[in-house]
Amino acid sequence: MAGNISFAMIKPDAVAARRVGAILAHVQQAGFEIRALRMVRLSRVEAEAFYAVHQGRPFFKELVEFMCSGRAVAMVLEKPDAVAAWRATIGATDPAEAAAGTIRKLFAESKGRNAVHGSDSDETAAREAAFFFPERELALLGWGAAG
Ligand code: CMP
Repeated sequence: MAGNISFAMIKPDAVAARRVGAILAHVQQAGFEIRALRMVRLSRVEAEAFYAVHQGRPFFKELVEFMCSGRAVAMVLEKPDAVAAWRATIGATDPAEAAAGTIRKLFAESKGRNAVHGSDSDETAAREAAFFFPERELALLGWGAAG
């Protein structure tokens, strides 16, 4: 059964462009409950670990450089079928292919600098949330090791 929680991130391009408020408004208008939120600054090692699944891909170095280039906002979002709902709300990875009205269509610059991140499965969402939020906080959301 699909879970009700996804991990999401506002990436350094959108934070630098002062789009945090506009994107959070979009998140709430789309019906997501913001259950946890934190502004973060990733080190290179952390960015490599967060995106370890993409190690070896041609864009990996560029992705890591970008993700540790400035502050980002990490979030846990709740909505029925949250992973699919959030992916629909942000649109395709490449803003040129993203549907009208999606966050990436509205705010992303390019496939690399694409404003927001969304988990690709419930399992990934749990792992990604645990990367940024303490276990006891996730447990209070009814999620994580104790959830
Ligand atoms: P995200 O959903 O955060 O997960 C992996 C990221 O890799 C993706 O968003 C893109 O920002 C990035 N990415 C995927 N393909 C490319 C590409 N061809 N060039 C640069 N970055 C890419």
